[in-house]
Amino acid sequence: MKVLVCGGAGYIGSHMVAHLLENNHEVVILDNLQSGHKSSVLGQKLYVGDLRDSEFLDKVFTENKIDAVIDFAANSLVGESVTNPLKYFDNNIHSVVKLLGAMNKHGVKYIVFSSTAATYGEPESTPIQEEDRTFPTNPYGESKLAVEKILKWCDKAYGIKYTALRYFNACGAHVNGQIGEDHNPETHLIPIILQAASGVREKIMIFGDDYNTKDGSCIRDYVHVSDLASAHLLALKRLQNGGDSRIFNLGNGKGFSVKEVVEVARKVTGINIKAEVAERRAGDPAILIASSDKAINELGWEPKFNSLETIIETAWKWHSAHPNGYNE
Ligand code: UFG
Repeated sequence: MKVLVCGGAGYIGSHMVAHLLENNHEVVILDNLQSGHKSSVLGQKLYVGDLRDSEFLDKVFTENKIDAVIDFAANSLVGESVTNPLKYFDNNIHSVVKLLGAMNKHGVKYIVFSSTAATYGEPESTPIQEEDRTFPTNPYGESKLAVEKILKWCDKAYGIKYTALRYFNACGAHVNGQIGEDHNPETHLIPIILQAASGVREKIMIFGDDYNTKDGSCIRDYVHVSDLASAHLLALKRLQNGGDSRIFNLGNGKGFSVKEVVEVARKVTGINIKAEVAERRAGDPAILIASSDKAINELGWEPKFNSLETIIETAWKWHSAHPNGYNE
């Protein structure tokens, strides 16, 4: 099938493109390169432009017979979303409204949407189930939850079938070491730890060690980016086979504390990465762990890189070869 990957030059999008090509699908990439990287697009058809530009979208859908869409195009910095919420509502919601409009106009009936654990906010219980309360504590999560609702109404009105995938902590890199995580600014734990390992930064700050957890630092569910990609393709196939619109969590169902992640990274890299305890970061829930039973049972998802060692090994392969990311 021919899949339009919006945000295909970004971190998760570029791994999705790789996975689709490895499974012999055709790919068309759309990215405004605001945070994506042209050099992550290895010889594929790339349209540079913005989803909010209807004429541009019309051109992409007219020039290509698209069978399905996977949408990663979004801003995703939680802190920035709190200080600049309108940026998030415009780029993360308005863009999907335009995209759905173009899909409807051109008769494209399937979309897999990149959602987030941030739709839940502070969890009611652990592990988090898809039916649990959604009460985002930041505009980023709010923007993704709003899109999930928009998708529901567009399914009813236009018959566009969707799957929304709520990721927990996306991490790791492609086993080939050629694509990986490169955000600017970098805010995510594992790349920051590995930047400390490769000397790009001096140390890692552990944001809080007075949480009510086993060692006082926050616990997260780390899920490999290539496993996320495989879940998207399974979700697309399920929709094509007549599956109804659904929401799934994607995580490994296992929590690791910040201190444990630092320890595993020291073991994998063989480097005594410097870590210091700092103040808590505003808005961080103590524990976020997914129940992914639904994805496993209903999508047939089988995460391959579900050990933290393997996740960090793949990330280290990328970071040690590309300490400055794509800009070298
Ligand atoms: N952390 C540190 N030091 C750092 C960076 C992070 O201690 O330098 C800690 C954070 O406080 C948190 C954990 O490491 O406890 C993971 O932090 P990340 O920033 O890597 O990831 P988050 O859990 O904050 O965010 C992830 C996704 C978001 C999503 C969110 C849902 O990256 O897109 O989960 O809550 F919104």
